[in-house]
Amino acid sequence: MKKSLGAKTLVYPTPAWIVAVYDQAGKPNAMTVAWAGLCCSDPPAVAVSVRQETYTYQCLLDRQSFTVNVPSEQYLKEIDFMGIVSGRNTDKFSLTGLTPLKSDLVDAPYIKEFPLNLECKLIHTLEVGLHTQFVGQILDVKVGSQFLTKQGIPDLKKINPVIFANGMYYGIGEVLGKAFSIGKNIAPPF
Ligand SMILES: Cc1cc2nc3c(=O)[nH]c(=O)nc-3n(C[C@H](O)[C@H](O)[C@H](O)COP(=O)(O)O)c2cc1C
Repeated sequence: MKKSLGAKTLVYPTPAWIVAVYDQAGKPNAMTVAWAGLCCSDPPAVAVSVRQETYTYQCLLDRQSFTVNVPSEQYLKEIDFMGIVSGRNTDKFSLTGLTPLKSDLVDAPYIKEFPLNLECKLIHTLEVGLHTQFVGQILDVKVGSQFLTKQGIPDLKKINPVIFANGMYYGIGEVLGKAFSIGKNIAPPF
């Protein structure tokens, strides 16, 4: 027997990512997003949903650029802080001590201390309701060399990203199996 929970934003997992932008004066700002995910393979694209009342919202429209920054678990307090205070009246970078670096390809800063950074050019906006979905074409992915495997692939264990669910933060679990592979055990592909 299943219990119906009604119309809710309830699905797992959702990320704890940081969207970074420049404001009109060139001040870097960053906000936490959980309503976000990859949305296209070709062109590679990511979608982040941002409310109009945030300071980041207008910056996204003005600059037509943003970065998605994937923080490690060790930055949990900073993740939370950037989702509590607004860049409209604070400088979140100077208060956290995080470092905004100029992107190579887009008009937005990325965060030095966070292992994985996506440089995104805004290609679509969709007014969904309370949130507007901003779709960014990923022009480059940057990763700290210490977060790569010997084969040069980003190492999820080293990156150690954070999951946001039910108002709590979680870490990632163990490797479970190889994708596009273990399913073949049920029956060979037809
Ligand atoms: C874990 C977490 C996830 C959040 N996810 C979103 C989100 O997906 N979209 C959104 O508009 N706000 C989200 N917020 C709230 C914003 O981060 C918050 O309003 C922030 O202060 C906006 O910053 P800004 O005014 O500098 O743009 C989230 C906050 C937290 C703590």
